[in-house]
Amino acid sequence: MSEEKQHRIEKHRPKCEAFAHIVRPIFQTYHTEPYTLYDFCCGNGLTSRYVADSLAESIVLVDIADIGMRKMIQGKLPNPIYVQASIIDVEVQGNAAVVAVHACGGLTDRVLEKAVEAKVPFGIMPCCYRLGIAEYDLALPPDARKQLYKNQQDYYDTRRIQFAIENGFEARIERIDSRISPMNNVLVGIPRR
Ligand SMILES: C[S@@+](CC[C@H](N)C(=O)[O-])C[C@H]1O[C@@H](n2cnc3c(N)ncnc32)[C@H](O)[C@@H]1O
Repeated sequence: MSEEKQHRIEKHRPKCEAFAHIVRPIFQTYHTEPYTLYDFCCGNGLTSRYVADSLAESIVLVDIADIGMRKMIQGKLPNPIYVQASIIDVEVQGNAAVVAVHACGGLTDRVLEKAVEAKVPFGIMPCCYRLGIAEYDLALPPDARKQLYKNQQDYYDTRRIQFAIENGFEARIERIDSRISPMNNVLVGIPRR
């Protein structure tokens, strides 16, 4: 592997590890049967390497760009399926869980909506809060004064969590260490049984 690729992996590793530390136990609590892990906007696929546990029998890696690190992932993930497509065109099927790390702006909403529609657990770390964020029609929206807070991302992510709750999920915001990434909110949810 080239030094540049190795450097890119090392740069992303702490973020993926911290994300998996939050999300993996939630999926493990929910799933007792083999399931498919969908990694949307997967980039180099490193997130899946840390999230996938022994029940994740296949991993669907989705990115609109060519997944340039296939060789690196090969052999390190069980049954990887590479899908070079927009997330819009990929359906979540069967017993599954959904992750997305730093899916930009409204892409985070699309991933969330897919998980909610399929009624599967999700772990999503959003970024780029100004790009095409969904305007969910909520029964109980968060206090709009939260938009005045220094950290506006909490306002938008509270709306997202409320969207999941109002659609049958137990959901909350967790956080990774902001020294790893300033875009450190992690939206987690499982369908209410
Ligand atoms: C900020 S990167 C995050 C990559 C990786 N998850 C990470 O944390 O390192 C965003 C990724 O989203 C992909 N992307 C952008 N638009 C997309 C779309 N409509 N459908 C699927 N992937 C998309 C980009 O190619 C890029 O790999």
